[in-house]
Amino acid sequence: KEHISEIEAFTANTKDEVENFRIKYLGKKGILNGYFAEFKAVPNEEKKAFGQAVNELKDAATNKVQKLKEELESREEEKGVYGDLSRPGEPVEIGARHPISIVKNQIIEIFSNIGFNVSEGPEMEDDWHNFTALNLPEYHPARDMQDTFFIQTNPDVLLRTHTSSVQVRYMEDNKPPIRTISPGRVFRNEAISARSHCIFHQVEGLYVDKNVSFADLKQTLLYFTKQLFGKSKIRLRPSYFPFTEPSAEVDIYWGLETETDYRITKGTGWLEIMGCGMVDPNVLRNCNIDPSEYSGFAFGMGIERIAMLLYQIGDIRMFYENDMRFLEQFKSSI
Ligand code: PHE
Repeated sequence: KEHISEIEAFTANTKDEVENFRIKYLGKKGILNGYFAEFKAVPNEEKKAFGQAVNELKDAATNKVQKLKEELESREEEKGVYGDLSRPGEPVEIGARHPISIVKNQIIEIFSNIGFNVSEGPEMEDDWHNFTALNLPEYHPARDMQDTFFIQTNPDVLLRTHTSSVQVRYMEDNKPPIRTISPGRVFRNEAISARSHCIFHQVEGLYVDKNVSFADLKQTLLYFTKQLFGKSKIRLRPSYFPFTEPSAEVDIYWGLETETDYRITKGTGWLEIMGCGMVDPNVLRNCNIDPSEYSGFAFGMGIERIAMLLYQIGDIRMFYENDMRFLEQFKSSI
């Protein structure tokens, strides 16, 4: 009994200590063999109990030695891993973010630095949020500008053709001042080619407050393009959108000035990168904002187009093919 509690309490830090412990109990001249030798002298009626006790002791000692050895070995293994800091690291295979996500996050970051939040909305929309509230009444010819996938007619349910629908929802739910960008997937019934796809991604922006002017819009876009492309030159070209008045198309000058050693440019000259304008008073009114008190600007861009410029990607279909050779190239960008 005493022996068993001694065995249980025993701890060892080195292999020698374990070995000495083993010899003390299980060795040739050890405690156990001592008891075995005594066995013959034990009176017959006590033999059974004596034998059982000795066997228990033997098991306890054997198990203890085994356990101590394992503990010491695993401690040594740990030392091997953490002890030698010059050992080469184990390679860890990590994935890459998709270029659309990389560019989307960059755009969000740039606008959040000047106070824009992020808003999202449903991909399946009703007619009001995608068209009517945005100043495109039924039979308005501008509806032809955006070939729409309809899911259901009367009442109409469709796949949103732009994330301007999210801006309508945001204005309905929030009071100015409003500064929000709406990233998301949009859908248009277009033939798939190297330049266009029926599913793509947009980031649209909206700023509504007192005294928001076209100058604010221009300066915001200049800030944005400088942050995203580095040194950059933009121009605003008059255009038309039903939801903005006046409207403009933003071109970026893509040429020697924006060229850097890692960005070899193919096309040079003025390239269109987004649409923008002052929010039409009708749109504000549709969203319960008084245009005599508030004004605003809005803009919208396709993420694919921006990513194609930044990474010199020649075919929009690359984004959706999940070709590992393409995706792995973005491993270093987070
Ligand atoms: N909604 C437009 C589009 O899908 C982009 C845009 C947004 C233009 C805001 C002007 C203002 O092309």
